[in-house]
Amino acid sequence: MRRALIIGNWKMHKTVAQAVGFARELSAGFTARADRDVAIAPPFTALHALSAVLKDTAIALCAQDVHWELEGAFTGEVSAPMLLEAGCRYVLIGHSERRRGSGESNEDVNRKAKAALRAGLAPVICVGETLDEREAKQTFSVIRRQLKEGLNNILADDIGRAIVAYEPVWAIGTGKTATPGQAEEVHDFIRQFLERMNGTEIAAGTCILYGGSVNPDNAGSLMAQKDIDGLLVGGASLDAGSFRKIIDY
Ligand code: PGA
Repeated sequence: MRRALIIGNWKMHKTVAQAVGFARELSAGFTARADRDVAIAPPFTALHALSAVLKDTAIALCAQDVHWELEGAFTGEVSAPMLLEAGCRYVLIGHSERRRGSGESNEDVNRKAKAALRAGLAPVICVGETLDEREAKQTFSVIRRQLKEGLNNILADDIGRAIVAYEPVWAIGTGKTATPGQAEEVHDFIRQFLERMNGTEIAAGTCILYGGSVNPDNAGSLMAQKDIDGLLVGGASLDAGSFRKIIDY
């Protein structure tokens, strides 16, 4: 059985002091559950401090991006070994805000995913269509291409450690969540794609997250879907109380 995974993506929110306060609040009275993993993705600056606060808790750390090189003249970038040392277990790759805002291509996503896997991090590879693409009935072709190019040449042994996040761009930060049925339709498509690519066993074991306006009220109905294995939560993860309700869906 797949374990659920809920990740709070803070984006560019919270100073170190605010992040530490949140982590203390969230971890107080938080007990690990056998059926689910929880992680938060703070800005890079807060990773180190949070790793100390969360050390003895079941809450893991996720970075929001990674560079594919190990080191070098790449101003502003952070490598996978650096993230591992800072205490990360996961790293988001190809979030739509980076695809759109920083011109990140499927090829970049592929290089980043390989670098993460090489370093021992679990890449969370984000895919999703825009509203125009959905309206033009291109959802499946867009997702297929993002997966095909993003996962290109990743060995079957490694692919089992990768996580896919379906985040329809039109649902991110808009309050317009995909209905559980709309999300499940794409999750099912993603699992079938993974099955054709890597076989039934790996596809059945891959964790596929949904993201886009998840909140405490819709988390349960999304998680009830057969192929929705977890949630990538933006806005609603910024408040410890609301994130706690989502974790406890
Ligand atoms: P949202 O963001 O929950 O605020 O829509 C989700 C995400 O971008 O990961």
